Amino acid sequence: MEFFLDTGLIEEIKEAAKWGIIDGVTTNPTLIAKTGRKQQDVIKEICAIIDGPISAEVIATDVDGMISEGKELAKIHPNVVIKLPMTIAGITALKWFSDNKIKTNLTLVFSSNQALLAAKNGATYVSPFIGRLDDIGHDGMALIDEIRRVFDNYGFQTKILAASIRHSTHVRDAALAGADVSTMPISVVKALFMHPLTDKGLASFLADHAKSQLK
Ligand code: E4P
Repeated sequence: MEFFLDTGLIEEIKEAAKWGIIDGVTTNPTLIAKTGRKQQDVIKEICAIIDGPISAEVIATDVDGMISEGKELAKIHPNVVIKLPMTIAGITALKWFSDNKIKTNLTLVFSSNQALLAAKNGATYVSPFIGRLDDIGHDGMALIDEIRRVFDNYGFQTKILAASIRHSTHVRDAALAGADVSTMPISVVKALFMHPLTDKGLASFLADHAKSQLK
């Protein structure tokens, strides 16, 4: 499974990049707004830190506007992936980007039918939002299962990018369900490393080592 960091904050990206496990970055208009900077500048800086897919989302809601914004974003760096919303306009613009060999990420996906539409028009990634489904009492992980089955039934190469991840159990379950990528905030990446028995075991090993040094 690939790990993407879900943030626009450069300090977080620099910190996590050192661990060697981050394959890419996803942003959205909310995450970019938190930086207080222009999207173009943030994306350019991220591309200089992480050598992998970097998702940048269009703001336009009409096809021509999405294509024109996406073209500009794609000029920033070859690793930029154009994030399009799951609307009729988004799926229509997706066809243009696929025909022009520009990588895409269809976002705000909440059903396997939406994922199927994105795969049909050649999306590179599809982003089902697990946490937001859980928030309204639905089963976000069941959606990953469904999309995996649909894509495997027809041999679609579109990658399933599990998004809106809230905790480390989401990452485990997405991996078990066969998601290709998990994108997560840095707090969730850090939680993946943690287990109380690891801490307890290490403390005990170090204590035993210290005692043996006294003899
Ligand atoms: C990433 O591509 C998504 O935009 C992000 O994971 C959404 O997460 P949220 O539901 O926590 O805002």
